[in-house]
Amino acid sequence: MKIRINDLLDEINDFSADTLENVEAFRIKFLGSKGLLKQLFTEFKDVEPSLKKEIGQSLNNLRNSATEKINSLKNSLENNIQVEHNYGDLTKPEEPIELGSMHPISIVKNQIIDIFSRIGFTVSEGPEIEDDWHNFTALNLPEYHPARDMQDTFFIEKDPDILLRTHTSSVQVRYMEKNKPPIRTISPGRVFRNEDISARAHCIFHQVEGLYIDTDVSFADLKQALLYFTKEMFGKSKIRLRPSYFPFTEPSAEVDIYWGLETETDYKITKGTGWLEIMGCGMVDPNVLKNANIDPDVYSGYAFGMGIERIAMLLYQIPDIRMFYENDIRFLKQFKSVI
Ligand code: DAH
Repeated sequence: MKIRINDLLDEINDFSADTLENVEAFRIKFLGSKGLLKQLFTEFKDVEPSLKKEIGQSLNNLRNSATEKINSLKNSLENNIQVEHNYGDLTKPEEPIELGSMHPISIVKNQIIDIFSRIGFTVSEGPEIEDDWHNFTALNLPEYHPARDMQDTFFIEKDPDILLRTHTSSVQVRYMEKNKPPIRTISPGRVFRNEDISARAHCIFHQVEGLYIDTDVSFADLKQALLYFTKEMFGKSKIRLRPSYFPFTEPSAEVDIYWGLETETDYKITKGTGWLEIMGCGMVDPNVLKNANIDPDVYSGYAFGMGIERIAMLLYQIPDIRMFYENDIRFLKQFKSVI
């Protein structure tokens, strides 16, 4: 009898059920009026008196185990049913899924990448935390160069200087250090300047840098590439290059596009001239090539840099640069239709 009781105890411990019907069948088998325990208690009458105490305890234990098992299985199965009830009306139509939208900075960045990749430019990236060499010195901006003041810098460490890059031109240097000409690359990225925040300026913004190095690259190549870009990006085919100064290019220029004077807004954004400045550019200074171990007697190249926010503001008539970073859903939602 002891062996049978132990076997039944194992059976109870191993039992599991996934429906209430199975639990009920199990209850009837063990605890029902003609169940196993009933039989065992009947047989118990004939047990030798010296064993009665021990076997009686085992039998009680067996009954308790069966009862506990049944209760706990019932409990968990019933609770599951409760959870199912919380699903509510399963025949109700689904709530529509809100479609997200790309951020205007991403939209414009991708457009620029797309346009330049069609004429063979690849995309390259560099770190946002830079050293002095890549952000300034290698770009022909040695220590104490007055042009360093053009870009108010956030410094992280002094001597040696570690800083947040002030422009994506730093990626030019990194790219030239790792790749030999011919080079055709654009480098989009985030840049940082210690400037007062206003409707037109922010301390964090985005730029795209372009770099083209090969033998016999001339200013005419630069102009053609820019003309192609402005046609594709803005649908405008009149540009002008105004002489300017950047330490890393010689000669340097600023690029204006003829925006037109058709609407009142055109008058406002072009200050009545019809012209809009969109980027800086020039022929890479021989010193910059030398700093990246490229022989300026063999190679020449052009570079350009533009602000993504500025272009997005023009394209989408966004009046305040701060709107890009506030993540106001009413602003962002307006770019849903643009991919
Ligand atoms: N790095 C310049 C800036 O942040 C933009 C620029 C101008 C980049 C001329 C160039 C360039 O590559 O040739 O204002």
